[in-house]
Amino acid sequence: MNKISGIRACVFDAYGTLFDFASVLGRCHEVPEAQRGALSTLWRDKQLQYTWLRTLQGRYADFWQVTGEALEYALESVGLTVPGLHARLMALYLRLPVFPEVPAVLRELREAGFVTAVLSNGTPVMLSAALEAAGIGELLDAVLSADAVRQFKTHPDVYRFALDSLGVPAEAVCFQSSNAWDAYAASAFGMHVVWCNRYGQRPERLPGAPEREVRTLAELPGLLNPLTAPPDGRPGTLSK
Ligand code: LAC
Repeated sequence: MNKISGIRACVFDAYGTLFDFASVLGRCHEVPEAQRGALSTLWRDKQLQYTWLRTLQGRYADFWQVTGEALEYALESVGLTVPGLHARLMALYLRLPVFPEVPAVLRELREAGFVTAVLSNGTPVMLSAALEAAGIGELLDAVLSADAVRQFKTHPDVYRFALDSLGVPAEAVCFQSSNAWDAYAASAFGMHVVWCNRYGQRPERLPGAPEREVRTLAELPGLLNPLTAPPDGRPGTLSK
């Protein structure tokens, strides 16, 4: 299969793609083991639903607020009323572990001359805290938060914001997400997309068609044709 050509920037979703969100509950011993799976799934599902619903309604609230409100709903739904638990789970969200292959992949991409960036619904504070805790901040040229456009993915403004910030056209971007809905939307927007299907999800029936599907990001560098000429400096106005 041909490698993907013409890429200048590799842009990554954050939660579930770089950061292992599903592990949060495993680190919280106050949640009985039998309830961890249900709480984690409900929290994430509600968090995403709230982003989509707020975007539809034009009633933006930032991802920290949405994440907190989703957690309130999830805790109430599973009947967990431990004092302080909400705050402790939210604090864990600021220091999620990265998936094991992530640091080496980011390093390899940068050494090959690609710009590396995060494009996430997370607020700048959430993202910088998590990147710093994971020790990978230095491996990213740009940290781009949807908060800048006060819309959530899959609104096209969010994907456009990445192009504007990096100063590259859509066809020069390879976007990676483990969230199928995000991968399909970025593809429909016009970016090249590698769907990191960590959890063996079924293909979406939505606009877009990710060009490649991988199980972990370790496969990514091998899918990209190296830049033929060194980039004329790292593109655009990079915000960090
Ligand atoms: C993000 C969520 C959607 O990082 O995973 O944007």
